[in-house]
Amino acid sequence: MPYYRVVGEIPRKRHTRFRAPDGHLYAEELMGEEGFVSDSSLLYHVHPPTAIVKSEGLTDAAAQSGLAANHPLLPRHYRTQDLPGGGDLVLGRQLLMGNDDVRIYVAAADAPSGLYRNSTGDEAVYVRAGTIRLESVYGAIDAAAGDYVIVPRGTIHRWLPGPEGRVDALVIEASGHIRPPRRYLSQVGQFLEHAPYSERDLRGPDGPLLAEGEDVPVLVRNRAGLTTLTYAHHPFDVVGWDGCLYPYAFNIADFEPIVKRTHAPPPVHQTFEGPNFVICSFCPRPLDFDPEAVPIPYNHHNVDSDEMMYYVGGDYSARKGSGVGIGSITLHPSGFTHGPQPGAVEAVIRGLDEGRNTTDETAVMIDTFRPLLLGRAGDVAEDPEYAWSWGRAARG
Ligand SMILES: [Fe+2]
Repeated sequence: MPYYRVVGEIPRKRHTRFRAPDGHLYAEELMGEEGFVSDSSLLYHVHPPTAIVKSEGLTDAAAQSGLAANHPLLPRHYRTQDLPGGGDLVLGRQLLMGNDDVRIYVAAADAPSGLYRNSTGDEAVYVRAGTIRLESVYGAIDAAAGDYVIVPRGTIHRWLPGPEGRVDALVIEASGHIRPPRRYLSQVGQFLEHAPYSERDLRGPDGPLLAEGEDVPVLVRNRAGLTTLTYAHHPFDVVGWDGCLYPYAFNIADFEPIVKRTHAPPPVHQTFEGPNFVICSFCPRPLDFDPEAVPIPYNHHNVDSDEMMYYVGGDYSARKGSGVGIGSITLHPSGFTHGPQPGAVEAVIRGLDEGRNTTDETAVMIDTFRPLLLGRAGDVAEDPEYAWSWGRAARG
């Protein structure tokens, strides 16, 4: 749904003759969602975007790593900050959990990726640390810590880590589209006044890039796996485009938190929605301000959801004593009631009495409506004591 943008040169009317200075016709390409009845963009290429010269199947290591049921049922804590890093943001992503709607990976990328197109769904990359540049057929977006970068299905792109050399990121592969929640938008798609962010907070691509090259490989993910398609010409040969479909960035610091007098549930933190899942942003904010408020979450069992939380910044009061740190990911599955660690409520109330009435906690949460299965990357990163962290303290 990002709003209409124009980048580079386009003809005044769509589907009309648009020529390069040497007289040859530019090749018009429509990128459109949902069979011509949803958002789309028109791109103008120097060369036909259809010209491929080779197709080679690849082994999909991530897919082969498989997913296993969360059985026996346990809440999980993965110290992803302890996972070995390396590789690029596409082939180096490590599958932590997933289901038929969404696959969730972590990456500690230190190398540029090749050109990549995911034709199975949109991707959202959340940058926890470092900087990274997205280059795409639509142009480039420079991203830094706190940025969500949404890459629509089918966008040919690549990821280039910044001068720090390493970027820590959460990678969310959806089986459909990742969009701002419908309830934030007017009937025709403008962000409403009550929405926690607006068009001004979304950063589109600069460009166009106008790269040249012949016999250029592009890694394509489709439902069958990974294929390398070799293009006759570099796909970044776009002189201009316009439309409502393109990659964009949104920084978590631009999310305007909603605070109530007593504790507000996670839907106030919702940032995006995908097929059968939501993405929420927990941001620094004043604590709940009723004099009698318990200003951290109550114990809860969201009976229809599995809940994944990625701790990305600040001091997470409700988790004190659990072993959770920056870079940790917890999974609280349906079938298990979770809540603050024992003693956390009293500690926060004491803090309020001493004037500490804000929280700087920052986290990204994904709630799914189908159970999350577990990937092998978790086996090496799991804290086996986490499940017992409430019970042990309760027994004293
Ligand atoms: Fe929760």
